[in-house]
Amino acid sequence: MASIPKVCMRTERNEIRHSKPTLALVSPSSHRIRVGVIGYGYWGPQIVRNFQTRETSEVLAVCDTSPKSLQRAQQAYPEIKVTQDFDVLLRSTQIDAIAIVTPVRTHYELAKKALENGKHVFVEKPFTCKSSQAEELIELAERKNLKIMVDHTFLFTGSVKKIQQLIEDGTLGELYYYDSTRVNLGLFQHDVNVLWDLAPHDLSIMDYLIAAKPEAVVATGETHLNGVADVAFMTVYFPRKIIAHINVNWLSPVKVRTTLIGGEKKMLVWNDLDADEKIKIYDRGVEVSNGEGLYELLVSYRSGDMWAPKIEQTEALRNEISYFTECVMNDRKPFNDGAAGLRVVRMLEAADQSLKERGKVVQL
Ligand SMILES: NC(=O)c1ccc[n+]([C@@H]2O[C@H](COP(=O)([O-])OP(=O)(O)OC[C@H]3O[C@@H](n4cnc5c(N)ncnc54)[C@H](O)[C@@H]3O)[C@@H](O)[C@H]2O)c1
Repeated sequence: MASIPKVCMRTERNEIRHSKPTLALVSPSSHRIRVGVIGYGYWGPQIVRNFQTRETSEVLAVCDTSPKSLQRAQQAYPEIKVTQDFDVLLRSTQIDAIAIVTPVRTHYELAKKALENGKHVFVEKPFTCKSSQAEELIELAERKNLKIMVDHTFLFTGSVKKIQQLIEDGTLGELYYYDSTRVNLGLFQHDVNVLWDLAPHDLSIMDYLIAAKPEAVVATGETHLNGVADVAFMTVYFPRKIIAHINVNWLSPVKVRTTLIGGEKKMLVWNDLDADEKIKIYDRGVEVSNGEGLYELLVSYRSGDMWAPKIEQTEALRNEISYFTECVMNDRKPFNDGAAGLRVVRMLEAADQSLKERGKVVQL
């Protein structure tokens, strides 16, 4: 295998001095956010591709401890520097932001170093392993006037945007429940259980759509193969009697990505694997009224039309990365910031606690 050249950005690049190398805020006159990406495994290439193909950003360097990963990065992008040494990215006066696409256990240390070195942070979900770590990073970023964006990719999909619109304009009415199945065979993560791997997608979507502080969490699950739970069921209680349930599983024979959202006026089914009609809205429901006698409940079922609205098809990560660069350039706080990441981590921590005690209710 060809050896990967270590980058020395000081000699190769840093001769050129840029206007604001050490300041946190990127000057509005800078037209591009220059990014260093750490982690080029499964998801890293998606991040690099999107930063590299936006007009408002470019990737200067990719760091990974694995020579194989770096070789892939170098083959795909000969113009990008590759290195095994994260300090090279941290020391570079040209890099404005670091994208952290490594396993969850590394997020806190890497994000902390990036912030301490004056870099904005784009970090993968889940933000950190502990809420105390997330709190510390949020405080550090605020003190240094730097941005943190947590990659809650689904918030940038046409589907979630459409559902948000249907909730906001009152089409669904008062929400009753959010019920999601997110199962497949593998990809096993080694450092986190299936809840920390797959549930952040639903938790971030719920956090965004329901927009209320959850009250309590219940989780059950079992560990079969790898020392961490690989099948789990999580329930989240929200105010206004909204209940959410998430089924996550690495041992499913088939891939399922289906969410039901029930409202007082309409209900919808979101099948993320359906290429053409991801969301179907049903004018169906149940109406209950009191009859004359004390115990007579009159139940009537409404079974109206079903329709599938048009969904924006742009790649979610593309939208998200454009938004990240916009936030950095214009000094705006992203809505999927560190605080949003922290809210998800708090739900996951509560779920872990409940899981250990076979479904004990954990108040948030
Ligand atoms: N937003 C999404 O839809 C989505 C999808 C998949 C993964 N992810 C997230 O992306 C992150 C990475 O997941 P993955 O599936 O790509 O993992 P992966 O194991 O495939 O890749 C991780 C890469 O990071 C490298 N690495 C590990 N520790 C490092 C360190 N300290 N310094 C430098 N490089 C290091 C590894 O060598 C590997 O190449 C996780 O947080 C995961 O939850 C997000």
